[in-house]
Amino acid sequence: MRHGQDTKALRYIRQLFAPEDSLLQEIAASLERINMPIQIGPEEGKLLQLFITLSGAKRIVEIGTLGGYSSLWMARALPEDGQLFTIEKEPAHAAIAETFFNRSGLQEKIRLLVGEATRILPTLTQEGPFDMVFIDADKISYGKYLDWAEKNVRPGGLIIGDNTLLFGAVYEDAPTEGISREAWQVMQHFNQKLSNGNQYLSTMVPTKEGLTVAIRR
Ligand code: DHB
Ligand code: MG
Repeated sequence: MRHGQDTKALRYIRQLFAPEDSLLQEIAASLERINMPIQIGPEEGKLLQLFITLSGAKRIVEIGTLGGYSSLWMARALPEDGQLFTIEKEPAHAAIAETFFNRSGLQEKIRLLVGEATRILPTLTQEGPFDMVFIDADKISYGKYLDWAEKNVRPGGLIIGDNTLLFGAVYEDAPTEGISREAWQVMQHFNQKLSNGNQYLSTMVPTKEGLTVAIRR
């Protein structure tokens, strides 16, 4: 969660390196209004832009659009011929994202797909291989999303997952309150797989939520 506990350091970083323009601010305000202010922070948006530019990513899949906040950060880093496919299960959230995409001037680069990712991802395989997959959706399905990403990201491409500390549960001996045993196991397995140095060059960026970043070897 991005509000409430912003440190002075984080505020400094955001102000200097990741200021939000009015469109990003409006998305954040819209998510506040529906009590879903769970998008990535601006400094993480900027980090995703760095990853995209460093790796030369052109084709990206995002699982979990929400209001399109992270989508917009990513789409803005894409080259002219870049494409972001972003998947959202909740029609009300997709509708919010769509209005912002339509105002972003980046409609050509963003394809919003509404429905269950487990059903949409198989149809995206034909559009691949992809340079990057950003996973930021229902935590219990991260294993399935990773299975798909592992098959559909090119060697040298990126797999990135948000919330991989699972709200402080992932490193505990048992699931913490409010976290299901299944989600706890799924996230441990997710990080375990991506930590395999034979298959990935990877780490977790120690954000509050945890951001696992892996380059497929
Ligand atoms: C939640 C989901 C997220 O993707 C996030 O970054 C923070 C919180 C949630 O479901 O509570
Ligand atoms: Mg998240």
